Amino acid sequence: MAWFEYRNGVLYAESVSLVRIAEEIGTPVYCYSNAALKANYKEFADAFGHRNILIAYSVKANANQAVITTFSDCGAGADVVSEGELQRALAAGIPGSRIVFSGVGKTQKELKAGLAAQVHQFNLESKAQLESLSEIAANQNVKARVAFRVNPDVDAKTHDKIATGRKADKFGVPIVEARGLYDLAGSLPGIEVVGVDLHIGSQLTDLEPFKDAFSRLAELVNALRRDGHDIRQIDLGGGLGVRYRDEEPPTALSYAGLVDKIFGGFGCQLIFEPGRALVANAGILLSQVIEIKHLSERRFVIIDAAMNDFLRPALYDAWHPIDPVCEAPVDAKREIVDIVGPVCESGDILGRGRAMSFLAPGDLVAIGAAGAYGAVMASNYNTRPLAAEVMVHGGEIAIVCPRLQLDELIGRDRLPQWLGKPTNPFDEHGAT
Ligand code: LLP
Repeated sequence: MAWFEYRNGVLYAESVSLVRIAEEIGTPVYCYSNAALKANYKEFADAFGHRNILIAYSVKANANQAVITTFSDCGAGADVVSEGELQRALAAGIPGSRIVFSGVGKTQKELKAGLAAQVHQFNLESKAQLESLSEIAANQNVKARVAFRVNPDVDAKTHDKIATGRKADKFGVPIVEARGLYDLAGSLPGIEVVGVDLHIGSQLTDLEPFKDAFSRLAELVNALRRDGHDIRQIDLGGGLGVRYRDEEPPTALSYAGLVDKIFGGFGCQLIFEPGRALVANAGILLSQVIEIKHLSERRFVIIDAAMNDFLRPALYDAWHPIDPVCEAPVDAKREIVDIVGPVCESGDILGRGRAMSFLAPGDLVAIGAAGAYGAVMASNYNTRPLAAEVMVHGGEIAIVCPRLQLDELIGRDRLPQWLGKPTNPFDEHGAT
């Protein structure tokens, strides 16, 4: 946690103490480091030097406007998978010319929104998507720039739920069927074939699956060019892993070396869609201990963040570091505990079997590397308002998403007229 360090025994985000954040904002709260976001972006960009590339930040990893704007200011583009993400990227100042529109199922409304934004490239995932887009674009008398996301049938050797490039996965078009689809695309009105695309999975900690997939894609580019298609953009997706525990993911430089070796000679623009690698270690989830519960079998530390705030441990058995905000002395006694949230699910465990110094109610803990797929996957389960989000910049704190209040949350519901009560139960109390 380079941007999250202990200073005199207290964990800081840049120059702001997490104790101060908890006092001023309350918990649970996501805290992002602006410097970390910029450093991660720079590391990725620098690895490619002055090559012709587009870094299309994968908005799904962390969709906060302050995060997207930070990357936009660095010169990033965006990889979006819905109209909502498209609007977010545009609102953060990323022009359509730097946006790639991915996604396994795009509605007609979304295709129209992509056309209106004149996105750089649509990454199509089926013949049906191609035909819909062709019809819409031809009706508007415009041309959509397209690539197909191909499924190279490569096992990314990552968690089963985040591998996307095996032939049984729902994503992309089988690479063996791609040439036929490109020929069809080349013959349809409203379509301009510009590139190829793949994304084989997330949290890859080894270059080998990238190498296999990229080599297959390079062969396809050669074949497509022989078939007469003007392939000038190669989108290599995201997927570069990060260290949560003891993983040793490839560095951006070694990844760039591999990309260069395979695609250096094609004279194409290379597009990347990194998400996790840019944001994971730039965020923590700050939480407070509610209660310690000692049962005969186990010891539970119940904290005020739960699976609804941070789903990765429950959904993928993901391991995230959990550290006390106020450091215990090195010789402090430790006990093995399960760190759990208050949600009514046995799976609501943030960290299982952790050796922690003694924690007491009121103590603060930081769940590390929570900047990617954290806040974006949160829900209101158990009618828990979403955690607030803050960003620090040196010694400054900014609330980048306030905690939703309970009246706002409950007040979204409407009662049907036949119940004979006000349609919004909160109207009675004057709340909206
Ligand atoms: N491009 C496409 C088409 C994607 O589907 C994804 C992620 C990315 C780029 C960004 O991948 P990254 O660089 O972040 O690995 N919720 C899961 C991860 C799901 C990833 C979905 N697609 C998790 O928490 O591990």
